[in-house]
Amino acid sequence: MTKQATLARLMRAMIKYDCGDVPRIQHFVKVHNFARIIGIAEGLGEEELFVLEAAAILHDIGIHAAEAKYGNCSGKHQEELGPDEAKKILKEVSGFDENQTERICWLIAHHHTYTDVTSADHRILLEADFLVNSFEGNVSKEGIISFCKNVFRSESAIAMLSDMWNI
Ligand SMILES: [Fe+2]
Repeated sequence: MTKQATLARLMRAMIKYDCGDVPRIQHFVKVHNFARIIGIAEGLGEEELFVLEAAAILHDIGIHAAEAKYGNCSGKHQEELGPDEAKKILKEVSGFDENQTERICWLIAHHHTYTDVTSADHRILLEADFLVNSFEGNVSKEGIISFCKNVFRSESAIAMLSDMWNI
Protein backbone atom coordinates (compact mmCIF):
# COMPACT_ATOMS: atom_id res chain seq x y z
CA MET A 1 0.00 0.00 0.00
CA THR A 2 1.31 3.50 -0.81
CA LYS A 3 1.99 6.02 1.94
CA GLN A 4 -0.83 8.19 0.63
CA ALA A 5 -3.26 5.27 0.86
CA THR A 6 -2.09 4.50 4.39
CA LEU A 7 -2.63 8.12 5.44
CA ALA A 8 -6.08 8.12 3.86
CA ARG A 9 -6.95 5.00 5.87
CA LEU A 10 -5.62 6.64 9.02
CA MET A 11 -7.73 9.73 8.35
CA ARG A 12 -10.80 7.55 7.93
CA ALA A 13 -10.06 5.63 11.13
CA MET A 14 -9.57 8.85 13.11
CA ILE A 15 -12.86 10.30 11.84
CA LYS A 16 -14.53 7.11 13.04
CA TYR A 17 -12.70 7.38 16.40
CA ASP A 18 -14.09 10.91 16.88
CA CYS A 19 -17.54 9.83 15.68
CA GLY A 20 -20.16 12.53 16.31
CA ASP A 21 -17.59 15.15 17.34
CA VAL A 22 -17.68 17.48 14.35
CA PRO A 23 -15.42 20.27 15.72
CA ARG A 24 -12.59 17.83 16.56
CA ILE A 25 -12.84 16.10 13.19
CA GLN A 26 -12.77 19.44 11.36
CA HIS A 27 -9.82 20.47 13.54
CA PHE A 28 -7.45 17.63 12.71
CA VAL A 29 -8.38 17.59 9.01
CA LYS A 30 -7.24 21.22 8.85
CA VAL A 31 -4.12 20.68 10.99
CA HIS A 32 -3.13 17.77 8.76
CA ASN A 33 -3.46 19.85 5.62
CA PHE A 34 -1.40 22.74 6.99
CA ALA A 35 1.27 20.33 8.26
CA ARG A 36 1.52 18.74 4.81
CA ILE A 37 1.78 22.12 3.05
CA ILE A 38 4.49 23.34 5.43
CA GLY A 39 6.34 20.00 5.38
CA ILE A 40 6.51 20.02 1.59
CA ALA A 41 7.59 23.68 1.50
CA GLU A 42 10.30 22.97 4.08
CA GLY A 43 11.63 20.14 1.94
CA LEU A 44 11.01 17.22 4.31
CA GLY A 45 11.90 13.83 2.90
CA GLU A 46 9.20 11.30 2.06
CA GLU A 47 9.67 9.38 5.28
CA GLU A 48 9.68 12.44 7.53
CA LEU A 49 6.63 13.87 5.80
CA PHE A 50 4.77 10.58 6.26
CA VAL A 51 5.46 10.57 10.01
CA LEU A 52 4.53 14.26 10.33
CA GLU A 53 1.24 13.78 8.50
CA ALA A 54 0.28 10.80 10.63
CA ALA A 55 1.12 12.73 13.80
CA ALA A 56 -0.95 15.70 12.61
CA ILE A 57 -3.97 13.45 12.02
CA LEU A 58 -3.62 11.85 15.47
CA HIS A 59 -2.19 14.72 17.54
CA ASP A 60 -5.29 15.39 19.67
CA ILE A 61 -6.21 11.72 20.14
CA GLY A 62 -5.60 11.93 23.90
CA ILE A 63 -8.51 14.33 24.46
CA HIS A 64 -11.20 11.70 25.14
CA ALA A 65 -8.95 9.67 27.45
CA ALA A 66 -7.93 12.85 29.33
CA GLU A 67 -11.56 13.85 29.82
CA ALA A 68 -12.42 10.37 31.05
CA LYS A 69 -9.46 10.12 33.45
CA TYR A 70 -9.07 13.71 34.68
CA GLY A 71 -12.35 15.39 33.77
CA ASN A 72 -10.50 17.91 31.62
CA CYS A 73 -8.42 17.84 28.47
CA SER A 74 -5.50 20.10 29.35
CA GLY A 75 -2.54 19.93 26.99
CA LYS A 76 -0.37 18.03 29.46
CA HIS A 77 -3.00 15.34 30.07
CA GLN A 78 -3.43 14.93 26.33
CA GLU A 79 0.30 14.56 25.88
CA GLU A 80 0.38 11.89 28.58
CA LEU A 81 -2.54 9.80 27.35
CA GLY A 82 -2.35 10.35 23.58
CA PRO A 83 0.47 7.93 22.65
CA ASP A 84 -1.26 4.78 23.97
CA GLU A 85 -4.44 5.62 22.10
CA ALA A 86 -2.43 6.38 18.97
CA LYS A 87 -0.62 3.03 19.11
CA LYS A 88 -3.94 1.18 19.03
CA ILE A 89 -5.20 3.01 15.97
CA LEU A 90 -1.83 2.78 14.13
CA LYS A 91 -1.80 -0.96 14.68
CA GLU A 92 -5.37 -1.32 13.50
CA VAL A 93 -4.76 0.73 10.33
CA SER A 94 -1.36 -0.99 9.76
CA GLY A 95 1.41 0.25 7.48
CA PHE A 96 3.49 1.89 10.24
CA ASP A 97 6.75 0.29 11.35
CA GLU A 98 8.18 0.48 14.86
CA ASN A 99 10.37 3.54 14.26
CA GLN A 100 7.56 5.46 12.59
CA THR A 101 5.16 4.57 15.40
CA GLU A 102 7.70 5.71 18.01
CA ARG A 103 8.24 9.05 16.32
CA ILE A 104 4.51 9.66 15.78
CA CYS A 105 3.91 8.95 19.48
CA TRP A 106 6.78 11.24 20.52
CA LEU A 107 5.29 14.06 18.46
CA ILE A 108 1.86 13.50 20.02
CA ALA A 109 3.50 13.57 23.46
CA HIS A 110 5.10 16.95 22.67
CA HIS A 111 2.47 18.80 20.68
CA HIS A 112 1.87 21.23 23.54
CA THR A 113 5.58 21.60 24.29
CA TYR A 114 6.93 24.89 23.00
CA THR A 115 10.39 24.94 24.54
CA ASP A 116 13.47 23.19 23.20
CA VAL A 117 11.93 22.66 19.81
CA THR A 118 14.88 21.36 17.83
CA SER A 119 13.39 19.19 15.09
CA ALA A 120 11.55 20.26 11.95
CA ASP A 121 8.65 17.83 12.36
CA HIS A 122 7.96 19.02 15.94
CA ARG A 123 8.12 22.67 14.88
CA ILE A 124 5.83 22.14 11.89
CA LEU A 125 3.21 20.32 13.99
CA LEU A 126 3.12 23.27 16.45
CA GLU A 127 2.83 25.72 13.56
CA ALA A 128 0.06 23.77 11.81
CA ASP A 129 -1.91 23.38 15.06
CA PHE A 130 -1.65 27.11 15.78
CA LEU A 131 -2.66 28.09 12.23
CA VAL A 132 -5.96 26.38 13.07
CA ASN A 133 -6.16 27.30 16.79
CA SER A 134 -5.56 30.99 16.07
CA PHE A 135 -9.00 30.87 14.45
CA GLU A 136 -10.82 28.24 16.50
CA GLY A 137 -9.45 29.43 19.84
CA ASN A 138 -10.42 33.09 19.62
CA VAL A 139 -6.87 34.33 20.08
CA SER A 140 -6.22 38.09 20.18
CA LYS A 141 -4.11 39.70 17.47
CA GLU A 142 -1.38 40.40 20.05
CA GLY A 143 -1.49 36.71 21.06
CA ILE A 144 -1.12 35.64 17.44
CA ILE A 145 1.82 37.98 16.86
CA SER A 146 3.64 36.86 19.99
CA PHE A 147 3.06 33.14 19.29
CA CYS A 148 4.37 33.67 15.79
CA LYS A 149 7.47 35.41 17.12
CA ASN A 150 8.15 32.79 19.81
CA VAL A 151 7.31 29.54 18.04
CA PHE A 152 7.02 29.97 14.27
CA ARG A 153 10.21 29.51 12.21
CA SER A 154 9.14 27.89 8.90
CA GLU A 155 8.94 30.48 6.17
CA SER A 156 5.71 29.12 4.67
CA ALA A 157 4.00 28.89 8.08
CA ILE A 158 4.88 32.50 8.91
CA ALA A 159 3.65 33.58 5.47
CA MET A 160 0.33 31.72 5.83
CA LEU A 161 -0.31 33.08 9.32
CA SER A 162 0.51 36.61 8.10
CA ASP A 163 -1.76 36.26 5.08
CA MET A 164 -4.57 34.81 7.16
CA TRP A 165 -4.56 37.54 9.79
CA ASN A 166 -3.10 40.41 7.77
CA ILE A 167 -0.23 40.83 10.21
FE1 LIG B 1 -4.81 20.49 17.91
